[in-house]
Amino acid sequence: MSETTARRTHRLAIIPGDGVGPEVNQGALTVLDAAQAAFGFDTQRVTVPLGADHYLATGELLTDAHVQTLRGQDAIIFGAIGSPKVTPGVLERGIILALRAAMSQAINLRPVRLYPGVESPIAGLTPERCDLVVVRENTEGAYAGMGSMVHRGTAAAVATQDSITTWFACERAVEFAFKLAMQRSKKVTLCHKTNVLVQAGALWLAVMDEVSARYPEVETDYVHVDAMCMHLPISPERFDVVVTDNLFGDIVTDLGAVLQGGLGVAASGNLNIDGSGTSMFEPIHGSAPDIAGRGWANPAGAVLSMALGLASLGEAEAASAIEAATVGVLSEMPAMAGAEMGGSTHVIAQRIADRLDTPTATADPTSLMTQLAAVSTQPTPSGRPSA
Ligand code: NAI
Ligand code: MG
Repeated sequence: MSETTARRTHRLAIIPGDGVGPEVNQGALTVLDAAQAAFGFDTQRVTVPLGADHYLATGELLTDAHVQTLRGQDAIIFGAIGSPKVTPGVLERGIILALRAAMSQAINLRPVRLYPGVESPIAGLTPERCDLVVVRENTEGAYAGMGSMVHRGTAAAVATQDSITTWFACERAVEFAFKLAMQRSKKVTLCHKTNVLVQAGALWLAVMDEVSARYPEVETDYVHVDAMCMHLPISPERFDVVVTDNLFGDIVTDLGAVLQGGLGVAASGNLNIDGSGTSMFEPIHGSAPDIAGRGWANPAGAVLSMALGLASLGEAEAASAIEAATVGVLSEMPAMAGAEMGGSTHVIAQRIADRLDTPTATADPTSLMTQLAAVSTQPTPSGRPSA
């Protein structure tokens, strides 16, 4: 970059959260500082207090003021929230689901990659055989929040929990999956349960047909979600880009996290893909109250999530280099930090940061980081074509 070129600046909202959230988040920011120095960009950071501690102190969940602040940012870097002192469901609905809706985060992107040196509980699984990405529809299905209960608290109680499937939401998820596949091995697998959920299944299949006609180079495949739970551990190499509904995606991606060696390394992005809100990046683990405050949490998942955020902002070289640095450090230490590794959150983060001292000039084209940067900098889709 020439010296006359203005440095790129990205506006980031930082939500550290609770428990190990602030610890791994600090690790991610240590790596971010090093990446900025090495790759010549800046960030403006605003810290937004949200989570169990903030809720217990103020009664506040996601407010309009938060939404306004977050809307003005280029990306949200999220730690984790949750506390045994808060009734389950309050923070999930009041913060996480509320954020996904307010920021129109259409897609939950979950890389399932076994990194070299990380031990998978699946016997014989090698990194070469495990590098796929799940594109989970993030706004509807059974998680749309529609339903009701009558005669609550009695033996006559009746609950309904509707699952919503719209062409609009399926199409944007499927289209994104195909765009990503074009950067990878040109294969998209739909995961659903079309033989039982015949209405929603038919809609997903029709969307797949229509979108695939626009991407003739991309091969398509279909797998039932129950079969997926067998195929994924045994033959993950069968999959590259998997697109799926919200509920199935939630389940399948936790299985994916097992393949890749655990909660400490798994990353995710909640992507807004039409510019109507802000994308959010978070490790998949929670606030881990059992190990909070001890410095035992592995920051790799938070670091890789932050890198996905940089990729979505077009910083392909930095994101790809952070991934490579993280792989290097993970291969030197057990993936899941623990009691025997006191103080390791900071140590792991610093070691990743130190590896960024000598920046690599080019982004690794086989890395999801580079591929996401390519997709994210393409023009947004022009909306639903005539069916
Ligand atoms: P958890 O993910 O916090 O912890 C599960 C187990 O994994 C614990 O033994 C923990 O010590 C370990 N672990 C988690 N992250 C780790 C890391 N980075 N390094 C090493 N070990 C790690 O899930 P749990 O215990 O079910 O939930 C704890 C709280 O977190 C709850 O309040 C839950 O609601 C919340 N939660 C929040 C999420 C979010 O913010 N998106 C996601 C999942 C749970
Ligand atoms: Mg889950």
